[in-house]
Amino acid sequence: MSRPRHFTDLSKVSATDLRAMLDDAVARKGRLKAGERSQPLDGKVLAMIFDKPSTRTRISFDVGMRQLGGETIMLTGTEMQLGRSESIADTAKVLSRYVDAIMIRTTAHERLLELTEHATVPVINGLTDDTHPCQLMADVMTYEEHRGPVKGKTFAWTGDGNNVLHSLLEASARFSFNLNVAVPEGSEPAEKFIDWSKRNGGAISFTRSAEEAVTGADCVVTDCWVSMGQEHRARGHNVFLPYQVNAALMKYAKPDALFMHCLPAHRGEEVTDEVIDGPNSVVFDEAENRLHAQKAVLAWCLGA
Ligand code: CP
Ligand code: NVA
Repeated sequence: MSRPRHFTDLSKVSATDLRAMLDDAVARKGRLKAGERSQPLDGKVLAMIFDKPSTRTRISFDVGMRQLGGETIMLTGTEMQLGRSESIADTAKVLSRYVDAIMIRTTAHERLLELTEHATVPVINGLTDDTHPCQLMADVMTYEEHRGPVKGKTFAWTGDGNNVLHSLLEASARFSFNLNVAVPEGSEPAEKFIDWSKRNGGAISFTRSAEEAVTGADCVVTDCWVSMGQEHRARGHNVFLPYQVNAALMKYAKPDALFMHCLPAHRGEEVTDEVIDGPNSVVFDEAENRLHAQKAVLAWCLGA
């Protein structure tokens, strides 16, 4: 049997396929807005497992699947036998007998990889401690919707070196944009994501200064200071305050620079109201584009 098409990480899918998915997402969005309906996933079922909370991911996958003609089953790890130590391998084999694809949001990335190892249906990464590839598909789509091709543009990340940054590092190589990163000491992204990006043509630079990272940027991106499940390593706000995206920091970027945030936002912490509610913020377009981008991911995984 041929291996299913898993969507685990941007580094595991070719740049050509990722670009084709974004083209498909834009086309699907256009057709939806024009009132056209097509249901290529009629009869297909997506199981979704959430080991962490979610608003956007769960609703956009659910609605996306319905718009494509399919159905979903929403599960949490704790209500399954997974929570009573049934193995991921056995869970993967059982679910593969019932459903056509599995989306999982979980803690350790290894749990996702173990699922892909044993599932005979496609597995989609809905966020792990390490990465959040669906978010970056929506983010690149959103940038291009507002400003045209992302190739050669400069993104700036300021804040914590977390899962979203890891996928942004991979995206910078896959979609050929420059990335300036500013994180406080002790919050650096994992070396393996930096190495992979550099090996694959990523033009990335690191600094401790948010102002330096943001200077001349076409897009400024940030995220929460404490990710889900990372509360034990929460650090004082004074460590992150110099990395807050506020109006003063945005002045260092290009005048038409976009502001992005995957949401949920912690207003007054990583971003101020004036920026997130300001004219250059596209955070709700990003949230909407999760739906369109993930429909393209689902169609790619399921060959629709
Ligand atoms: N951005 C994002 O993944 O949001 P949720 O945690 O609400 O799914
Ligand atoms: N870095 C955040 C992203 C939330 C969508 C987290 O993992 O909690």
